[in-house]
Amino acid sequence: MKTDLVKPLDRQRRTWLIATMVAGGIAGATTLVPFVDSFAPPESAKAGGAPVHVDLTTLMPGSMTTVAWRGKPVFVVNRTANMLAAVVKADPMVADPHTDHPFSMPLPAYCRNEYRSRPEHPNILVLVGVCTHLGCTPIPRFQPGAQPSLPDNWPGGFLCPCHGSTYDLAGRVFKDKPAPQNLDVPRFMFASSTGVIIGKDEHGEA
Ligand code: FES
Repeated sequence: MKTDLVKPLDRQRRTWLIATMVAGGIAGATTLVPFVDSFAPPESAKAGGAPVHVDLTTLMPGSMTTVAWRGKPVFVVNRTANMLAAVVKADPMVADPHTDHPFSMPLPAYCRNEYRSRPEHPNILVLVGVCTHLGCTPIPRFQPGAQPSLPDNWPGGFLCPCHGSTYDLAGRVFKDKPAPQNLDVPRFMFASSTGVIIGKDEHGEA
């Protein structure tokens, strides 16, 4: 039962796990896709929570890049039409389809839609890559269909390697998984049609 698996978190353990998995997750992600650093602020600024600019010109449809923001991995995914259709397909399979119970930050109002993205660019998904169970970094499993550790009707999404929580292509957790909530969506905005800023929107910095 889901409730049996969601135990009160030991704060020290959780902090350690998040720090460890963030470091490991970013290192792992760079083997999949290159770090976007062309617009990245200095390390000191990032540590202080400065917004992070991401160049989207090389982010091909169906691919993902990972950047660091406030010491956490942030996924930026350029979803294809099929991937957006998979989000709709996953609606009855996810635990909180409308993110009524956000994790550590409110879902920005402009992302309160079926794709959890800004309406002007519904293909671009921005997620904090920290599992809402114990803080591991989920890995992309965008290919739909049967494969190891996933169900035969897998629509595509993310798999947490620690305890098997799965999230759809909008970062929404599937039902009956250890993770209790959807992945966070941080504030973000488009600086142009080819660049996005993480951690800031029209209302200011997160
Ligand atoms: S940390 Fe436990 S499922 Fe992700």
